[in-house]
Amino acid sequence: MHFPPAAAPQASRAARETESRASGTQEKPVPLSEKQPALIRVEGLRKSYRTARGELVLFENLDLEVAAGEMVAIVGQSGAGKSTLLHILGALDAPTAGTVYFASIYAAPVNVASLSPREAAAFRNREIGYVWQFHYLLPEFTALENVAMPLLARGMRPPEAMKIASNWLREVDLEDRGAHRPGELSGGEQQRVALARALVCSPRLLLADEPTGDLDGMTAGRVFELIERLHASHGLTSILVTHNMELAQRSTRILRLADGRLTALTDAAQPAT
Ligand SMILES: Nc1ncnc2c1ncn2[C@@H]1O[C@H](COP(=O)(O)OP(=O)(O)O)[C@@H](O)[C@H]1O
Ligand SMILES: [Mg+2]
Repeated sequence: MHFPPAAAPQASRAARETESRASGTQEKPVPLSEKQPALIRVEGLRKSYRTARGELVLFENLDLEVAAGEMVAIVGQSGAGKSTLLHILGALDAPTAGTVYFASIYAAPVNVASLSPREAAAFRNREIGYVWQFHYLLPEFTALENVAMPLLARGMRPPEAMKIASNWLREVDLEDRGAHRPGELSGGEQQRVALARALVCSPRLLLADEPTGDLDGMTAGRVFELIERLHASHGLTSILVTHNMELAQRSTRILRLADGRLTALTDAAQPAT
């Protein structure tokens, strides 16, 4: 398929291809629009949970296209399914039905929803940077080591990984905090380290789930500015979940997730400024 053998062992890959041919469900490449190339195209997405009180349907028939370079904000009430949607887009969770095509630079678009766990892990490491409300830095490691971690996880030699991590600490204005452990950093600094870690593997897509939700207003504004700066300077496509409408309005498009549907509050043709 679309990943090197290290990410998709030969035997299971052959088995899967035979299986998908037999069942007629082999992935079909979807031509991407020429005018505005989509990085992500979501079609007919459904997510439901079986609960003791019956089936809980979070969303159904959800469609979404995000163009390369867009910064999309998703708003909606707590429990609307925003985090679940972000997890599905980033191959951390599987939809109940539907497809999530991600434009591949290697081949035809990848259906993220059909990846095996190993393929999904390789896909995440290569293509996706995640930032959450809480930084999830490892407390016993320094800021520099935390940022280097995704590079080490993909097998890079430590001296090279540390050098790249150090450059990323400079990008988030924390080059003088590399030796600090997370507990020795402020909330805003922790989130900036988390942002450097998210981007250290040069992903194309940044997914941020309430990245400023745990910060005071002024710090939240600064972290958001940093996200905007990195988004522009690294040619990222970004999807951010936020409760803060003021910050959401600085994105290129705002979508609201409510009652299982995504509604455009603004669109690319009418920037929310
Ligand atoms: N594993 C699960 N089983 C059942 N319900 C779940 C599970 N995970 C999440 N939910 C429910 O899905 C809903 C959406 O959750 P979430 O995506 O976190 O919403 P949001 O991020 O918009 O606050 C919530 O009502 C939550 O309780
Ligand atoms: Mg959430």
